[in-house]
Amino acid sequence: MCGIVGYIGPREAYPIIIEGLKRLEYRGYDSAGIALFDGNDLKVAKTKGKVVDLEAIVEKEITTNGKVGIGHTRWATHGVPNDVNSHPHVSNSGNLAIIHNGIIENYESLKQELISRGYTFKSDTDTEVLVNLIEDVQKQQKLKLGKAVQAALNQVVGAYAIAVFDKNKPDEIVVARLGSPLAVGIGPKEDEFFIASDASPFLEYTKNVVYLEDEEMAVIRFHKPIKIRKIEDDSLVDTYVQELQINLEQIEKGGYDHFMLKEIHEQPKAITDTYRGRLVRNEAIIKMAGVEDNMKRFLNANRIIIVACGTSWHAGLVAEYIFEDLARIPVEVEYASEFRYRNPVITENDVVIAISQSGETADTLAAIKLAKSKGAFVFGVCNVVGSSIARESDAGAYTHAGPEIGVASTKAFTTQITVLTLIALRLARAKGTISSSDFRTHLLELEMIPKKVEKALESDANITTIANIYKDVSNFLYLGRGYNFPVALEGALKLKEISYIHAEGYPAAEMKHGPIALIDENMPIVVIATKKGHYEKVVSNIQEIKSRKGKIIGIVTEGDTQVRALADHVIEVPDTLESLSPLLTTIPLQLLSYHIAVMLGKNVDQPRNLAKSVTVE
Ligand code: F6R
Repeated sequence: MCGIVGYIGPREAYPIIIEGLKRLEYRGYDSAGIALFDGNDLKVAKTKGKVVDLEAIVEKEITTNGKVGIGHTRWATHGVPNDVNSHPHVSNSGNLAIIHNGIIENYESLKQELISRGYTFKSDTDTEVLVNLIEDVQKQQKLKLGKAVQAALNQVVGAYAIAVFDKNKPDEIVVARLGSPLAVGIGPKEDEFFIASDASPFLEYTKNVVYLEDEEMAVIRFHKPIKIRKIEDDSLVDTYVQELQINLEQIEKGGYDHFMLKEIHEQPKAITDTYRGRLVRNEAIIKMAGVEDNMKRFLNANRIIIVACGTSWHAGLVAEYIFEDLARIPVEVEYASEFRYRNPVITENDVVIAISQSGETADTLAAIKLAKSKGAFVFGVCNVVGSSIARESDAGAYTHAGPEIGVASTKAFTTQITVLTLIALRLARAKGTISSSDFRTHLLELEMIPKKVEKALESDANITTIANIYKDVSNFLYLGRGYNFPVALEGALKLKEISYIHAEGYPAAEMKHGPIALIDENMPIVVIATKKGHYEKVVSNIQEIKSRKGKIIGIVTEGDTQVRALADHVIEVPDTLESLSPLLTTIPLQLLSYHIAVMLGKNVDQPRNLAKSVTVE
């Protein structure tokens, strides 16, 4: 994880880097730092804490003028978050400054080698080893910085996105990437360059961006066109300049207190954007090029294996129900992190669907590389355009959720379910496992979901009252059945990650096989009990909870009376098909966790220990 930012050009680098780091704080926020060349010397400031803490330090410690600089916001992997372990790291001579996102796996052996040659280390980080390795190569082999970086990286095992500069040659920054994202923004006059983990830090300056691919590097110079080379053999690769389609408003809070709340409220639009142009109800068709072009692979598949992590894994679980129910294709849903390490049986007739908001999750990326090596067809469902998983997949379909900044995933989840539903419906139609009238009903209902999400959002005041009653408890249970079992898992995850209240999700019927022992008058239990599905069974489960004095918060269909008579509180959602109900039942659970976290004074958008994209194993 970690966010990196750099600038070289005619403007003052400091404000660009600081504002850029704030936009990248979703990637990590346990420490931050900056290195600037002020025209004479290298100035470095860094600190444990957030970018605002860095700003305070900078004001006291360094001058902020300079046209070249690099900055970093960290999510610790090697070494605890403290001032010394923060980036940038400077080489022993004081000449080179580096920022790094990723992990150098063989850093210990490289470090011992460097120590034997007289190098000393202040931090516990792998990054300080890398910057000294570059310096060592530079000195030993009398190389220019670019060549020295290249030679050093050829000795490194691991993952990185780096930016490094030499105070003796401050008209260039060297960047390289393997396994961690790195974007280079090219100023409109091609006389300035912006470096960042994603394009958000430089959106107001330029829309032209080059994404480095794995194993690529570039020496970025004032006023010189960017040239990209292969790290391994120095060969030149074509520079593909893309035009960004997102704008600044999309990555700002737009009047909401938190990104998470803004993103919860953006779901009607995000879902519409995701099915727009794909769901053509008048013609009763679904158009998805990635599916159409590979229809044979899908139809001949022995099974679909879904790999993902966290919330995306929950979307995968919902998809398992949809694919099996509608398209009658067997589905297995795997945690990407487990899948890759358990020697899974994968054949050429398997279709692997990788789901990832960021498209950068290291475990998911590794899982699809494994699947591809066994000949499986890999289909990516990502939100971030041009992300590593999107590029690594054989084909795919983007969710069009827009940038998701809040660390807790919300609109990514509902748009993933939207895309997966479209795919399942398209395949069901092609296989003939759905009647044409059911197909039309699904299209019609899916088209109405955004309006129904808006309706579900109207329960905000009711949910705030419920949040206030239960905000101080230590535990929560979430129960759901069928399509809504994964929603129960997702609701529990949302509460855990932003309020730090322990929560568990269970299939409602599984409760009596253990979790029921937890229930007493202090335990709030959120039960998803919408009309379609296993309503009567869930009502029985509610009775079981009631007789053990548990506090019931029912998520019910509008107009419900049966659960209302039993539950302590109910939150209504509009009626829809059972297969689409997760798109609605998840909304109150997002709001409940949001309000509880706000009432507890937690940092909703940047919960402790988390980062938005997990680019380490
Ligand atoms: C939960 C959350 C994480 C991510 C997980 C996968 O709110 O954000 O659990 O869902 O880290 O991330 P992506 O979807 O980017 O692969």
